[in-house]
Amino acid sequence: MSTARAEFSSRFGFLMAASGSAVGLGNVWGFPTNAASNGGAAFLFTYLLLVFILGYPALMAELIIGRHTRSNAVGALQQLARGPASRLLGFVVGVAGIITVSLILCFYAVVSGWMVAWMFGSLTGAFGLEGVTQWLTTDATLRNAIFAVVFMAATVYVVRAGVREGIEKWSTRLMPSLIVIMGLLIVYVLTLDGAIDGLRVYLVPDFNRLANPGLIISALGQAFFSLSLGVGTMLIYGSYISRQENLPVVGSMVALLDTGIACLAGLLVLPAMYVALANGVQIYDAGGALIAGPQLIVVVLPALFETMGTAGVVIAFPFFVLLVIASLTSSISMLEVPVAYVVETYGAKRSRAVLVLGALITAICLVIVFNFGVLFDLVVMITTEYSQPLLGLLFVVFAGWIWNRNSILEELRQGNEGVEHSLFWKIWPFYVRFVCPVIIVAVYVQMIFF
Ligand code: TRP
Repeated sequence: MSTARAEFSSRFGFLMAASGSAVGLGNVWGFPTNAASNGGAAFLFTYLLLVFILGYPALMAELIIGRHTRSNAVGALQQLARGPASRLLGFVVGVAGIITVSLILCFYAVVSGWMVAWMFGSLTGAFGLEGVTQWLTTDATLRNAIFAVVFMAATVYVVRAGVREGIEKWSTRLMPSLIVIMGLLIVYVLTLDGAIDGLRVYLVPDFNRLANPGLIISALGQAFFSLSLGVGTMLIYGSYISRQENLPVVGSMVALLDTGIACLAGLLVLPAMYVALANGVQIYDAGGALIAGPQLIVVVLPALFETMGTAGVVIAFPFFVLLVIASLTSSISMLEVPVAYVVETYGAKRSRAVLVLGALITAICLVIVFNFGVLFDLVVMITTEYSQPLLGLLFVVFAGWIWNRNSILEELRQGNEGVEHSLFWKIWPFYVRFVCPVIIVAVYVQMIFF
């Protein structure tokens, strides 16, 4: 196409957008409880290791492919292909990525809608509007449908404004606010009774747990989901990075920011859970594990806020604002994937493409809301446990086996002269070729057969 392709205006803009994509609900309700239930610092350590031996190389594969091809996932993989067979594979993987990420957005919007409802609910609660608060904070299909739509509307609003004026502008506003809110909440929660017990389960390592094979699987799934890998999200953000940028450096910053914020979230969530325990709130499920996921956010923590009186009212609102910010900066990165494809392949106008795709995804999202019991867990499982790691595998296969090595080096040289002498170039090609595929396959086999 003749029009100039959009680009992030600065390194900071890219970092905020990419870490905004990576930091999401997964960091707040997945990582901390996963860590606490799997040996505390021992899990943290395994997770960090996995992020750096598997997540980072896979992230780099997407960023490099994206910047080199300056294209959406489908166009990009087809450009790397060497013949009709790999071209077809590129098409299939790209399209499967687009479908997967759109479905992830469908369930993500359902949950994010709850966060929006609770955010308003904590505000109306503070003003003593009991009836409205009750409605906003009670699980009901109608409420869920309304707020899923509200959340999707916000996502559409941001993405419609474009890469710089929408995604970058909102990410650079929202991500720093997220970090500030999280910092303040951590400081406050750590002063409460019981908080130190939470810190202990989070940070004291229990190495016996590392023998548990389930741990590696959950750490891997967590790493893939958290870094938004395998579906073309990071590829498309990579395609908006300037040629002057040093890719291995910015990629490692994204991985560090994501992991850093996940670790910080642990300092907030686990102490809060143990404060709740000290206040008589149930924090373990029937099986004796810490309550995680949506239940943690809409049952345990609200119960905690309730026991805290006025203080609870004051901290509930910033807490839900934090979750809504984390969700929104992730959802915009998901919607951008199909949007970029439709705009670049069919020459559609961006605003039109965003509206149509947004409406379509909202419609599927509503189908999930109205058939929650049957569909929700199923969609989550198919997309995040099967499709995402499998596609992640195929992305690294493209980078490691199909794409010509010299052209990768050429791409990396831009913004990083002398990269061929760097540690990155000594290790990374080998990693995407052998280590990443083998680990992903091994984890898969273990998941399916054991
Ligand atoms: N990484 C985000 C989180 O931790 C979610 C997310 C954003 C995502 N984009 C994605 C997950 C693409 C999978 C694929 O919540």
